Amino acid sequence: MLKGKHIILGISGGIAAYKSAALLRLLVKAGAEVQVIITPNGKEFITPVTLSALSGKPVISEFFTANSGEWHSHVDLGLWADLMIIAPATASTIAKMANGVADNMLITTYLSAKEHVMIAPAMDLDMWAHPSTQRNIRTLEQDGVEVISPADGELASHLVGKGRMEEPENIVKCIKAFFERNNVSEASLAGKKVMITAGPTYEKIDPVRFIGNFSSGKMGFAIAEEFAQRGADVTLVTGPVSLDVKHPRIKRISIESALEMYETAVQTAPECDVAVFAAAVADYRPETCNQTKIKREKGEAPVIKLVKNPDIAAACGKLKKDGQIFVGFALETDNELANAREKLDKKNLDIMVLNSLRDAGAGFATDTNKVTIITENSEMQFPLKSKVCVAADIVNTVQGLLTH
Ligand code: CTP
Repeated sequence: MLKGKHIILGISGGIAAYKSAALLRLLVKAGAEVQVIITPNGKEFITPVTLSALSGKPVISEFFTANSGEWHSHVDLGLWADLMIIAPATASTIAKMANGVADNMLITTYLSAKEHVMIAPAMDLDMWAHPSTQRNIRTLEQDGVEVISPADGELASHLVGKGRMEEPENIVKCIKAFFERNNVSEASLAGKKVMITAGPTYEKIDPVRFIGNFSSGKMGFAIAEEFAQRGADVTLVTGPVSLDVKHPRIKRISIESALEMYETAVQTAPECDVAVFAAAVADYRPETCNQTKIKREKGEAPVIKLVKNPDIAAACGKLKKDGQIFVGFALETDNELANAREKLDKKNLDIMVLNSLRDAGAGFATDTNKVTIITENSEMQFPLKSKVCVAADIVNTVQGLLTH
């Protein structure tokens, strides 16, 4: 899969730089040609000698080679590479990337990069959680950089928390998934119609209040982008989220309540080749919505009577015809596999994507997810990945089941 691929491995100055040697070795073993660019601080943590021995190429760090005066062209490097991965990406390197502070060879190369860029951040938990780091990460994501979220665990400071660079094996899996996504021809799903439900639903109590949930919509939006990139025409039926659709082949239908989502979905799904039910639909809604704002009255607190919402996936599953592939999600806290299989059956779906709330980094409102993809005859467990990588795994599974 990585044979002949040109990869720039950027290394910035953090303790996790020692893991970059293992990452480099795995990439080279998988057949990639790797050019290492290390920041001046990175060299305090791992020597260029080790890295050039492993990559079989001189390591680049300065703008010029000291003796010969040979200039290293960051523009040429940008053109040469199929992918740039910066691991570890320290808080400082992330900040420089987000703000275009081109004071070393790694950042100038990043600013000239035409290829896809990934970062695997590594830092102390407080630095990771700091609003400025999180702001910079959001900026990079908006700029199209793929962030391989740090893992939880013991850190160099001996504190325990989020900030450990993801293990080299898992970084390689994300890199392979990127090339897999790219290898799938642009037009491999051309002409296919796909419907996706995403986000939460809001169930009104009165004009200013509602019952909702913490769903961010990120998983559904990532799946929509993935299908569109492969040539499908996508209808994205989404509850209230703060995300924008990027691909022109995605038609967005914004709804608010489960009933609105239901009406759109049962009309759209029967016309589609694929339907993915990624929305976190509220199972119940208030029986009535007060026409005026409920006042804070003296005495007893109001009691809100709830009634059941329709099960959108199950209703569409009942209408499913041969050849259509329908995908559901199951968010479970216990007895996960058995519950997910039961939902697959009950809702008449073909694929169930299971996330367990017992797994850190999985489920709602995170940028990552850890899933098991279940079909009638198989179960595939995947490691913690960005939702973009998980979307590719889901779409690959759908493509495997589509007959033509
Ligand atoms: N779903 C749906 N409409 C609903 C409830 C769920 O379309 N009213 C879909 C979800 O989008 C998801 C799947 O059904 O794809 C499973 O959702 P989940 O909330 O895990 O299951 P429920 O059937 O609501 O079961 P429970 O909450 O009891 O676990």
